[in-house]
Amino acid sequence: MCGIIGYVGKKEAAPIMLEGLRKLEYRGYDSAGMAVVSEGAMHLRKCAGRIESLAKLIEKTPPKGTAGVSHTRWATHGPPTDRNAHPHYDKSGRLALVHNGVIENYQTLREKLIAEGHAFHSDTDTEVLAHLIGKHYDASPLAHSPRRLIEAVRDGLKRVKGTYGIAVIHLDVPELIVGARLGSPLVVGLGHEENFISSDAAAVVAHTRDAIYLNDYDLVSLTPNKFEILSLDGSQAQFEVSQVDFTQDEAEMGIYPHFMLKEIFEQPESLKNAMRGRLSLDDGTAKLGGLNMTPREIRDIDRIVLSGCGTAMHAAMVGEYLIENMARIPTEVEIASEFRYRNMPLTKDTLLFVVSQSGETIDTLAAMREGQRKGHRVLGICNNVASTIARESDGGVYMHAGPEIGVAATKSFTSQVTVLTLLALLLGRMRNTSMSDGLKVIDDLQSLPDKVAEVLKMSERIKEISHKYVNAEGMLFLGRQYNYPAAMEGALKLKEISYIYASGHPSAELKHGIIALVKPDMPCVFIAPDDAVFEKNVSNIEEVKARRGPVIAVTTEGKTELEKVADDVIYIPECADYLTPILASVPLQLFAYHLAVARGCDVDKPRNLAKSVTVE
Ligand code: M6R
Repeated sequence: MCGIIGYVGKKEAAPIMLEGLRKLEYRGYDSAGMAVVSEGAMHLRKCAGRIESLAKLIEKTPPKGTAGVSHTRWATHGPPTDRNAHPHYDKSGRLALVHNGVIENYQTLREKLIAEGHAFHSDTDTEVLAHLIGKHYDASPLAHSPRRLIEAVRDGLKRVKGTYGIAVIHLDVPELIVGARLGSPLVVGLGHEENFISSDAAAVVAHTRDAIYLNDYDLVSLTPNKFEILSLDGSQAQFEVSQVDFTQDEAEMGIYPHFMLKEIFEQPESLKNAMRGRLSLDDGTAKLGGLNMTPREIRDIDRIVLSGCGTAMHAAMVGEYLIENMARIPTEVEIASEFRYRNMPLTKDTLLFVVSQSGETIDTLAAMREGQRKGHRVLGICNNVASTIARESDGGVYMHAGPEIGVAATKSFTSQVTVLTLLALLLGRMRNTSMSDGLKVIDDLQSLPDKVAEVLKMSERIKEISHKYVNAEGMLFLGRQYNYPAAMEGALKLKEISYIYASGHPSAELKHGIIALVKPDMPCVFIAPDDAVFEKNVSNIEEVKARRGPVIAVTTEGKTELEKVADDVIYIPECADYLTPILASVPLQLFAYHLAVARGCDVDKPRNLAKSVTVE
């Protein structure tokens, strides 16, 4: 939700920030802008639309200067218009600010500032921050100096309720950027005679891999040769310089037309990375050292709650089946946004897991903090090792999937399910799973990447099938058992990138209402692998066909009988039933991708969405 990059150094800031914004576009893409300071003048360029619109503006009138702040927006307060694009100025027009987050008390602050003579030029909550900080700056008895801006930022933020990652520049101190963080990620990139501040290391990795991931309540000041990190209360902050864990190449599309397709095709590798070093053939189990729990503590777990949003929640739902089947531990999934409000009764030995690719989803963070507040251990399954969940959780498992930039989650889903399978195996081996059954699971897991690679070879065939349904009015996705969540995930992929309405359900629920929707332009996608419920799925397919509903079936190689009932059949390699949601989700990702491309949709940046949802 919004991306920030600021630069201070010896080079021209505008092209560096523009390139950085392109890397951050996944975070929001409805408007963009930048402010660059040079001796005595502030140059502002901003407009509604994608980064490319800003690029055209900058090409026409390049803003000169070696320090600046820039922003790509996902609108929260006020529509995506030129005037609502960031940066925003203070009253003096000498201070510019960019912001990611939400200022909850902005109305009250705005009214107060208006009464004091401030005029506002946008509908955003952010502009209040610029005016507030500017007001403290202008009232300060200090001489023009970095200290004066730092103090003004601190004083302004004291009055604010909400979340923010901000970057501020001022004409009086042209070689200075001040940043602060509460609830929205910010990373400082340390270069040679240049420094950066950004929402994501992806925007700075082309320049430096030395990074400091800021903590909540950190306040940073950057000049070309110096940085200082204080706490908002004025005390010295704790920080660590770390190495960005991915390369510039990994954050780029390479030969692929879209990040989504690249990430779908990365899955054989990302699955290997999720398992690497975690399978023990000696003990027939998984090794997950990051759980930070003794065998005794693991043995004492009497209940598990898994929480996440969107795709991560679907992965958690597969996890529920996996853990209950393999380890016989009662497991429940709670949507992260509801966890806090539901007040679930939890036993003393309930273990909580939050599942999140980004590790920054606000609702998932809130679920984690609520669980911790109640005294529970909360572990994370996340991809971003520098994220808030990675830092604040009591331990957990990294997915090691590499950067996922396409807004539609793909490789993160299959990696999350793989990690949850490892977890189920570990928990099972401490309870009722035998050594030989454990070894069988390891064997199944090890063969998974090659099987995914087989499915990927069918991309062109899946494309042909998808094109038959380009004008569908809607689509229903159905599956049973492990594949009920996979059906929900298939539906989410389709609707978010193609804008065709889709919903996922347990196959047996058809008769309880959903079948009323079945008609020739409402195809049904059935996930019906060769498992214990295959015959039941076939009966449901027959019921749809009897009502002239087209059927696309995803089934196991060899189950050719489905060709007699389904209109289109997509085959996946034979595998254990608990791995079918991984194998079945890959063709459904490709199906959604090809269909959306055929409809002319921007699959990497679907309308109204952003990759990380950092506002409630
Ligand atoms: O980063 P997270 O895994 O916490 O994100 C959760 C959801 O916002 C995310 O999965 C979203 O539903 C995707 N757009 C789905 O493709």
